[in-house]
Parts: sequence; structure tokens; C-alpha cells
Amino acid sequence: MAGFNMPQKPEPIWRESVSLPSFPALKESIKADVAIVGGGITGITAAYLLTQQNLKVVLLDANQILNGTTGHTTAKITAQHGLIYDELLSHFGLEKASLYYKAAEEAKQFIEHTVKENSIKCDFRNEDAYIYTNSSSYLKKLDTEKKAYDKLKIKGKLSDNMPLDLPIKGSLVMYNQAQFHPLKYLKALLEEAIKNQLTVYENTIAADIEFNKKTSIVTSDGHRITCKYIIAASHFPFHDSRSFYFARMYPERSYLVAGKQNEKFAGGMYINAESPTRSIRSANIDGKDMLLFGGENHKTGQGKSTMSHYEALQKFAKEFFEVEEIEYRWSAQDLTTLDKVPYIGPATKDNRTYLTATGFRKWGMTNGTIAGKILTDYITGTENPYFDLFTPSRFHADPAVKKFMEINADVAKHMIKGKLEFTQNNIDKLERDDATLARIDGKRVGVYKDKDEAIHMVDTTCTHLGCEVKWNSGDRTWDCPCHGSRFSYTGEVMEGPAKKPLTRIKANN
Ligand code: FES
Repeated sequence: MAGFNMPQKPEPIWRESVSLPSFPALKESIKADVAIVGGGITGITAAYLLTQQNLKVVLLDANQILNGTTGHTTAKITAQHGLIYDELLSHFGLEKASLYYKAAEEAKQFIEHTVKENSIKCDFRNEDAYIYTNSSSYLKKLDTEKKAYDKLKIKGKLSDNMPLDLPIKGSLVMYNQAQFHPLKYLKALLEEAIKNQLTVYENTIAADIEFNKKTSIVTSDGHRITCKYIIAASHFPFHDSRSFYFARMYPERSYLVAGKQNEKFAGGMYINAESPTRSIRSANIDGKDMLLFGGENHKTGQGKSTMSHYEALQKFAKEFFEVEEIEYRWSAQDLTTLDKVPYIGPATKDNRTYLTATGFRKWGMTNGTIAGKILTDYITGTENPYFDLFTPSRFHADPAVKKFMEINADVAKHMIKGKLEFTQNNIDKLERDDATLARIDGKRVGVYKDKDEAIHMVDTTCTHLGCEVKWNSGDRTWDCPCHGSRFSYTGEVMEGPAKKPLTRIKANN
């Protein structure tokens, strides 16, 4: 694209600007009060709070800490979770919709308080949050959402303009929200927790749970962590426990680009109401004023060419902002539950020791923080006003069941379509750094040719429940459209629910 060079490698802006500690893999069986699986905002917030209660806590991550969804966020700390409050009012009523807002507000206050108390240098800054639209039909939706704000006593205002100079028909502001550098903040929480005896293990895969007299996590290397409570904070719960989480959530992929700004930013954080999504915020990275542009959401594995999503964001940045070169590009994956409210609490009805937090629907900074607090309160026997709202065992027949059926019909379609598609692409004609599907000895094979022309082949059957994975050209991964598992081009699991790698096919097979 004229005027812009796309960064070769997807790399989020946050990880480049902070040096994170590394930790060893677990090499023996151990005991703890609480074992947390997943080193993102939920896991680290819970570790920070639980270790203050003198509990023995261990934190495991299948890869490196802060390298999952938390490391790939826009890091807006806001209760303005898109157009949600009118919908919550009609599905849940005033009391629960109000609790949802209060939970997000409390998360923001917790972060603000923690930053002050620990003098954390993480660029925390109060900013107003805006939803804007350039479509007449969405203008009506903004109006309805403002009425919901009024019912819930949320401070906001409808306007036909906003500080940012974009073509709009209207905007709805929620005052006094915030933004920060998520990894600087979480690194500080992690260090505090370590001072309070938290133990961290990286490259340690929680493969299974044994519910005998005592509860144990079994790692893929066969070591056990015997504990009183397990928190699955691994984005998708690493153990399903016949709770069918894979059928109760759907994954969406979204994209971000960032570049240095050449003009003074008007302040505020922005997201539009319509599709394609455009999310905008500023950040200061190593003294440089940057702008972040996010959006282009689609169901995982069902988008167009993934590079085209980055290009669309670049085009938007160039059209409306004085942005120099795009220096970063990365993508994120988020899970949405049937009723759009996260699942936080005991993962199953009949076992109180296995807890989870998932389905944050792109609003992980507030949802992950409140999840850490709710799960800590659950473990320490402290009352928490949000238990019932977020409990994973809730059941709301309408519209959840209809959505459940639609999601499963979609999964079935992908499973069957993927198996029947016949591909005749010729591997010889494959360009460098590109992938295709081929049939080799009757098997459907995903073939990637790297920059040095080495060929990497994998069986494209997802090891979770057997859907066919699709090539993601932007990130060079094989993504599953059914429940969002992602695999590297050599087949390793990058994101679950799959636990096993794709089968590698040798070139001479
Ligand atoms: Fe469930 Fe692939 S993630 S089948």
C-alpha cells in the first residue's frame, strides 16, 4: 500500500516496550492452596490478591506469561463495552444490568487504586470513552443506549460531534474512563505477588484435572499440582468437565495496527457502533506518541485474507490521521458467551473447586480484573455482589438457546464443509510465505512454504473436535473456525481449547 510498509512480523506494541521476567517449567509434583492456569490479567490479578491472604499460590502458563489475549489488547479500561446496556436491560432487567455496570466501574477503580498504592508507572490516564456512528440507523441505537444510561445512572451525553475529527452523525460519551500500558501494570502486580511467595512456571501445559479425594492438575509432562482450588484463567477453560464451554461461546478475531502520530491527539478513546469496527486510542511508547487502530472483527477462521484486514486498518489510519509509518501489527482473539456476560465462578454446578473466568468479549481489562476479585472472594469465603450475575451455571432461555443452536449449526457446517472441500492446488506453484491445502495420499494436508522455501505440512484436522483448520496469512497460523483453537505453521498449539498439536506430515510420506 502506497505510503505504508507493513511490519513483517505480527508483534503487539506492548511486549516490545517492557522487559518481562522468564520462569522455569515445572519439573516435579508439588502442592499448593490455589493453582492458577493462565498468566494474563485474570490470573495475575487473582495471584496478586490471593497471595495477600497468605495462601500458597502457583501460576502456570502453557507458553510465556502475558503472551495471550492480555498481551494483545487495546487496553481500554472502560465500562463502555460497546452498545450493551439497552440489551442487558431487556435480557436481565434493571438490577442485573446495573450490577454489570458496577462490576466494570469497580474494576476500573481497583486498577486506579492499585496503580496509586504501588506507585506503578504504567501510563494510567483518565480518558472519556466514545461510541460514534456515521450511520442513521445506528444513531437511533445510540439514542436507545443513552436512555439505558439514564436508567442505570451512567454519566454520559449524546452529541453530534466529538473531540476527534472524523465524519460522524453522532456520538455517545461515557465520562471518566481510563487507559494504561497493560503489561507495565501487570508486571508490577506479578512482582508484588512474587514477593508474597507466588511461584510461576512457564512452558507448563495443564493437560487434565483429577477430582479424587484431592484435586490435582496433571501437566503434559505427568507432574501433579495437588491443590484446594484451581482457577482456569487460560482464555478458554483448559478442562471442559462436561460443561460444553466450546458450545457456549464463539471466538472472534480482530486486528490492530499502530504508528507514530504527527499531530496532537484530541484525547479520548473511541469505537464506532457499526461494522467494520474501528477502535482508536493513543499511547506513549518509550517517549513516542503512538496511535492504535483496531477492528475488522470476524469469527475465527472465517475472515477473508488476513493481511487484507491489516490493510483496511492502515487505509483508515492514513485517510483520517497524520500517522507516519505503521510500526506494529497484531491480532487478538476474544470469546463471546451466549448472553454476552462473562462466565466467572465454579466451572461446573457439581464441583466447587474448579473455577473459571472466560468470555470477556473484547473487554478483558475490566472483566479480567473483576474476575480476579470475584474468584479471590469465592476462595476466601468473602461475599461478592457479582457472584450470581457471572456464575457460569446461569441459564437464560431467550435468546441464549437460539444462539446456542445457531452456533452449533455453524460448527457442524464447518466440520462437514471442511471435510468435503476438494483442493487441487499445486504445491510447486506455492509462493514463498504462503500456504495452501492439498490432498496427499488421500489426506487433507495444510502446506506452508516459508521464506527459505522449506515446506511445512500438517494434518488440517483440529485436534479439539475435528473441524478443519484454515490458514491465517497475517499471523502465519492455522485457525479453527469452530471454537477458536490456533496452531503454528508447524502445528504447535498456540491457543486452546485444543491441547494436542496438529499432526505433522513429513514431506516424504
Ligand atoms: Fe473445537 Fe477446533 S477448536 S474443533
